[in-house]
Amino acid sequence: MLPEMAYAQRAAVKTAGMASDMVWLNANENPAGIPQAALAAMKETLPTAWRYRYQDFGGIYAEIAKSEDLAPELVLVGAGSSEPLHIAVESLTSPTRPLITVTPTYEGPVELARALGRPVVLTKLRPDYSADVQKLVEEAGRARGGLIYICNPNNPTSSITSGKDLDWLVANLPANTTLLVDEAYIHFGESPDLASALPYVRQGKNVIVTRTFSKIYGMAGMRVGFAAASAEWVDRVAPMRINVISIVSAKGVVAALADRENILRERKASMAKTRRELCAWLKERELGYIEPQANFVMIDTGRNAREFISEMPKLGVAPGRPFPPLDNMLRVTIGTSQDMAKFRDAFWKVYKG
Ligand SMILES: Cc1ncc(COP(=O)(O)O)c(C=O)c1O
Repeated sequence: MLPEMAYAQRAAVKTAGMASDMVWLNANENPAGIPQAALAAMKETLPTAWRYRYQDFGGIYAEIAKSEDLAPELVLVGAGSSEPLHIAVESLTSPTRPLITVTPTYEGPVELARALGRPVVLTKLRPDYSADVQKLVEEAGRARGGLIYICNPNNPTSSITSGKDLDWLVANLPANTTLLVDEAYIHFGESPDLASALPYVRQGKNVIVTRTFSKIYGMAGMRVGFAAASAEWVDRVAPMRINVISIVSAKGVVAALADRENILRERKASMAKTRRELCAWLKERELGYIEPQANFVMIDTGRNAREFISEMPKLGVAPGRPFPPLDNMLRVTIGTSQDMAKFRDAFWKVYKG
């Protein structure tokens, strides 16, 4: 399963010959970077990383579980959330058991299911860009079971599926069906309708939630994420893990978790401020966009966006790749306020032609 960056590199943006001061707003990374406490812990750990240090991991995984009030046996830690997502798709779909999701959404699970020869059912988003939970249930019923994947907030639309809709979905899950909720961006959401699916896991429902340290924690290159799920599933699939994460990354994550409340509060506030500034700018110019709940915004360019997107890097800014079927939309990650000033200039130049 490829993370966002690998997909980003497939986009129209070619890195060869690019300006060294290119502003990369294509992979939903967090310019706040690695938290200081995590950096210090990782530096301290490096000299002892010549050993596997397997004996340390039980305690580290327990810390990660505790941070979300989960029993340790409910948590599967992996290389980013990509690894647990990969394991969920591989273990819970089959040649007769489809992956059922929305379009557009994060491609990782869909591409993996296709590569494995598993059927994929794509349903349309509703007009408000939420997942059509009734449709998803209908499709799972028709297939006599499957894996329903919802990214919440959704990538690339930055929209949400409400807690009420998730409640309905969980209460109406057909037999042999698991709900997989990808919460990579949940910490950035401000809508009162946004709710984590972790309570369903704690209640023993047929739900898996994935989280990552790549986004609000700013540790994408360190590759740590986890799934929260039933103890039975975690136990059954643990041997499917390919990457045991590095002790350096693991110690970094534990240090970040020790300062979790501050990190989450400060980073969310700072990103939301920059996001609000961008939205205000778009509104002033009567440019359409999807109301964002993650650290990126989908902007309506008013034309097919493919060429628009490929013009931007020439002006020093790399936005996200095209996301069909939203052919007129450009996705931009919220960078620093300087990054966004450069983005606005470049966007306006291309928009005006
Ligand atoms: C929605 C979503 N899920 C999962 C991932 C995987 O990222 P990671 O493996 O770094 O957690 C990404 C990457 O951008 C993403 O956008």
